[in-house]
Formats: sequence, structure tokens, C-alpha cells
Amino acid sequence: MSAPATFDLSGRVAAVTGGNGGIGLGIARGFAEAGAAVAILARNEAKNRAALAQLNAFGARALAVRLDVTDRAALAPALAEVERALGPLEILVNNAGLARAVGATRGELEDWDRVLETNLNAAFILARLAARAMLPRRRGKIINIGSEYSLFGNPLAHSYAASKGALIQLTKSLAVELAPHNIQVNALVPGWIESDMTAPMKSRPFYQEVLRRTPAGRLGTPAECAGAAIFLASPAADFVTGATLFVDGGYSIK
Ligand SMILES: NC(=O)c1ccc[n+]([C@@H]2O[C@H](COP(=O)([O-])OP(=O)(O)OC[C@H]3O[C@@H](n4cnc5c(N)ncnc54)[C@H](OP(=O)(O)O)[C@@H]3O)[C@@H](O)[C@H]2O)c1
Repeated sequence: MSAPATFDLSGRVAAVTGGNGGIGLGIARGFAEAGAAVAILARNEAKNRAALAQLNAFGARALAVRLDVTDRAALAPALAEVERALGPLEILVNNAGLARAVGATRGELEDWDRVLETNLNAAFILARLAARAMLPRRRGKIINIGSEYSLFGNPLAHSYAASKGALIQLTKSLAVELAPHNIQVNALVPGWIESDMTAPMKSRPFYQEVLRRTPAGRLGTPAECAGAAIFLASPAADFVTGATLFVDGGYSIK
């Protein structure tokens, strides 16, 4: 891909959690096309291998690390492995996420804990590990993947909405702390995007409701999330921090 220098990621090292499928893979592929070396960190080894093959096809230096982001003790070693293999980490995307639609009065507290641990706590721990590495180098980008439920209430997925809402406030707080050190922290909020997470909804009436409610009249694709992520990861966004960038076909404005 030939792009203006301001969007060029050549020589930069990026880590994308949950980068083996869906939005994470869309972003990882975009980064590779823009010249970055890319590490994907996720659990499923078969998906990791397949995603790695896609990244290698761009000629990118790439790495797959098997990681469960809820395993706190594994987070620092995973980032260390990325730096050993690819070089100093400059871009972290906290994308790994899950939703449990169980309502407040049903479901188990374990559901709540698991969603918060995956979507919020792991993002915070990885962000602070990455920031520690970026601080002495005075350069870094952290991108947190939010959700429309960062804004809106959800009658079934309370833990998801709580985690994604908190992720926006975490983004702003990290942005304020790290801006003087030339580390930018932003949130990217996808609307309804084609992925394993949204595939089951296609058979439900809710799908038609989403289409009606989305001004663009369709779901987006993981590839359509990549451009915004490249922007936030690139020198073009060196003066952009604490922002929430919606890639949602207008869902959030209607
Ligand atoms: N699709 C949408 O419409 C939509 C809209 C707004 C926001 N989002 C957000 O976008 C992000 C990606 O979602 P998606 O739609 O692409 O979903 P997806 O296709 O289900 O992908 C989720 C990714 O997260 C990884 N993951 C889940 N739990 C993990 C864990 N404990 N440790 C490491 N990796 C883990 C999965 O890989 P493994 O299973 O191999 O670990 C997978 O790669 C999520 O944060 C989601 O909340 C999605």
C-alpha cells in the first residue's frame, strides 16, 4: 500500500490483542500493509497460525504469541517476547474482548468477572506495561477498542457495557498522564461489524433492528476498522490523544 509518509508505519512494532480474527485481524492486516512489524496475541493456536500466514503474505515481520489476557502473570512475558522478536513496542491495541448477554438477575458472577477481566483489567495492565516500556523512548500509541455500549445501556450485557464504558474513561485518564511523554492514548469505537462476535445475531430479529438503526444501513467489516487504527497509530495522530473515534456507519449519532 502506498500512503503519505504521515500514515506510514514502517519500522514500527505493534501488538494487537485478539489479533487472530475479526476486528483485531483487520487492524493487524492494516498495520502490516502500512509497514509495521505486527504481533498478534490470542489464545487459539490454529487461528493464530492462520492469521500469521496472512500477515506474512504482506511481507511483514510478524509474530503470534499464545496469550490469554486474563492470565495476569502472562502479560509482561508476552510483551517481552514481542520486544525480543520484533523490537521496541511502539503501538499497543487492546482489542481482545468478549460479551456475555445474561442480564443482571440471571447469569453467574463469574461471567461479570471474566468480561471485566478481559475487556478492562487486561487492557489496563497491558497499557501500563507498554507505557513503562515507551516512557524512556518518548514515543508510543495505545489504542483501546470500545463499543457502542461504551455510550449506551444494554439490557442484557451489563458487564460488557460497564467494561467498555470504563475503557473510555481509562483512555482519557491514560491520555492525560502520558501526553507529556509523547505517548498518545485513544479509543476506537467500532459500530456493528461482521465478526464471530456478531455472526449469531444474523438469525435474530435484532439484526434487522440494527440495520434500521444504522444510518449506513449495513454492518461494517474488520477491514473498515483498519484505516482509523492506522491513523491513530501513525504520526498523523501525534497531536490526537484521549479521543474516541467512531467507525460505525453513523450508529452513534442517531
Ligand atoms: N463486532 C462488533 O460489532 C464489535 C462492535 C464494537 C466493539 N467490538 C469489540 O471489538 C473487539 C473485537 O471483537 P470482534 O467482533 O472482532 O470479536 P471476535 O471475532 O470474537 O474476536 C475476539 C478476539 O478476541 C480474542 N480474545 C477473546 N478473549 C481473549 C482472551 N481472554 N485472551 C486473548 N484473546 C482473547 C479472540 O481470540 P482467541 O479466542 O483465540 O483468544 C478473538 O481474536 C472486542 O473488544 C469487541 O468488544 C466489536
